[in-house]
Amino acid sequence: MIWTGLDIATALSDALEKRPGSSPVYFLCSANTHSLCLSLIEMVEINVPSSHVFVVPDGENAKTLSTCESIYLWMQSAGALRNALLINVGGGALCDVGGFCAATYLRGIAFWNIPTTLLAMVDASVGGKNGINLLHHKNYIGTFQQPEKVFVSPHWLSTLSHPELLSGWAEVIKHGIIAGGKHFQQVMKPRPAISDQQAWLGLIEWNIKLKARIVESDFIEKGDRKLLNLGHTVGHALESWSHDVKLPISHGCAVAWGLVYETKIAIKVSPNRAETQRLYEDLKMLVKSIYDPIPRIEGDIAVLMNYIQADKKNEHHALLFSLAFAPGDCHYNINIDAEAVVQALNG
Ligand SMILES: NC(=O)c1ccc[n+]([C@@H]2O[C@H](COP(=O)([O-])OP(=O)(O)OC[C@H]3O[C@@H](n4cnc5c(N)ncnc54)[C@H](O)[C@@H]3O)[C@@H](O)[C@H]2O)c1
Repeated sequence: MIWTGLDIATALSDALEKRPGSSPVYFLCSANTHSLCLSLIEMVEINVPSSHVFVVPDGENAKTLSTCESIYLWMQSAGALRNALLINVGGGALCDVGGFCAATYLRGIAFWNIPTTLLAMVDASVGGKNGINLLHHKNYIGTFQQPEKVFVSPHWLSTLSHPELLSGWAEVIKHGIIAGGKHFQQVMKPRPAISDQQAWLGLIEWNIKLKARIVESDFIEKGDRKLLNLGHTVGHALESWSHDVKLPISHGCAVAWGLVYETKIAIKVSPNRAETQRLYEDLKMLVKSIYDPIPRIEGDIAVLMNYIQADKKNEHHALLFSLAFAPGDCHYNINIDAEAVVQALNG
């Protein structure tokens, strides 16, 4: 069940009241989200006396095996059994690690997500992929398990930093390309003002609908779900490389530029299609106007190619991309020659 709306406190307490039995509730937060959501947690603590709170590091630092161990030990020492409910309150990183721990603690307990970043609202908290990193390899360890409930409210966006908002916006652009039509036109327009919660609610709702429709048709990513990787093959490579060269760019910035470069690859596949060329021009203009430029990559194409070749979506050494040829016309498992990728990155 995915609840969307503005009054999250009422929705959460109603849902907790309706939960059968009096199972204990375990809140997982990061330092930031613990202070942001304190009133919500205190409200639940009053209604559910057997509730507990645990705080893990903010952001990507939480997605480690050692954080998982600390979560398991906290739950065990607090007496959590199979009927326990874990509620993850935070961004995509927190939802990822919390979902993974819930899916594996005692071979699986129920969990709910309360996403607090745009990225987590439109992407990470819905879809049932949970995971942690293995050294520098993102999301190498994980599970597919759906949260029992997700509570999504644009209410949290007001405290989000501009770079974090833009990080989530890259996924919204990606969804607009996949959906095409009026949704693509919407992402080409300026974002609503943060104070316009109704506009954000509508926007978040169509993003969740799109993702849910794709995930329902292909939960374990054997087919259509691969479309959601649009922009991410080059995007992840740019992100990892930018950290290597100590000129870090955000995930959203990397994905946004990944969408541009991958459309250039699509032009190599389909050179005579005017719509692909137009999509490339449109995306380049949009991304340039919103995101920071990426550092010069020309001298480091080989390093980027190493990352692209190690992408976990590849099979038998073939480079497999999800590509957009026009808004609403996207395909997956497209085998691309390494030379075509090099040319797209270079030119
Ligand atoms: N499971 C999936 O399907 C999926 C999909 C996309 C991304 N992800 C994962 O999501 C993660 C990125 O998520 P993210 O972009 O939400 O970043 P994040 O979770 O790292 O959060 C970014 C920062 O924002 C802070 N924050 C959270 N909510 C806030 C709020 N309301 N106001 C102010 N600060 C707030 C966090 O504490 C953190 O410091 C990555 O690890 C990525 O791999 C998972």
